[in-house]
Amino acid sequence: MSTIEDTRTVGKMVAQDYRKAEVFKRHGIDFCCGGNISLNQACAEKSADINAVQAELDEVDSRQTAPQEDFESWELDMLVDHIVGVHHVYVKKSNPTIREFVNRVKMVHGMHKPNVSEISDRFDGLAQELEMHMHKEETVLFPYIKELVAAKKSGTKISAPFGTVQNPINMMLAEHDSAGNELEAIQQLTEDYVPPKGACATHTVSYGQLKEYADDLMRHIHLENNILFPKAIALEKELQ
Ligand SMILES: [Fe+2]
Ligand SMILES: [Fe+2]
Repeated sequence: MSTIEDTRTVGKMVAQDYRKAEVFKRHGIDFCCGGNISLNQACAEKSADINAVQAELDEVDSRQTAPQEDFESWELDMLVDHIVGVHHVYVKKSNPTIREFVNRVKMVHGMHKPNVSEISDRFDGLAQELEMHMHKEETVLFPYIKELVAAKKSGTKISAPFGTVQNPINMMLAEHDSAGNELEAIQQLTEDYVPPKGACATHTVSYGQLKEYADDLMRHIHLENNILFPKAIALEKELQ
């Protein structure tokens, strides 16, 4: 906990780290138009427990993932758990929040700025696609990869219900490409996530959220395309 944070305004705190917007939102603290007050004042106005709010802000600060983990050396079942526990959880948690923000920007500015309407529509589509995509991974592909790992450990044979693991992987790869294209379109529409001059706080926050979402999705897809999938194909071959 720091006294430095207490002297900054909540608007400034969000400007410096947009992830903190979700904490303020949770406590009903206005970081946008009413953001020009200190954390102490804001908490007092909303009768929010400043220690609890500060703890949540500190948690956001500490949320950095461990630097450069060596995923190449991980067992595939562990890697699957990591992907689901970190990246799938992140996407599921972020979809409704970001949707709400980009939609609010669309409602307010969409008439004059067609870009923000398109960003909102595209994000909606992407979020929906990813939810279906992750569901397939979690219910079909990933359980099979875990079975492969278990079969290797116990020295038993295994046969896939879908021919070979290459089939669902091909489908996942195509869906990753499609998500990557959507991300690229959003990146272009936001001009590299740089909010236009004079953009309101919600607009600015939504660009920060979109950038974080894109970064996470890139790491997520990298782990699947470049580590998990090729290793699963190799492991299946080894067991046949
Ligand atoms: Fe995934
Ligand atoms: Fe995936």
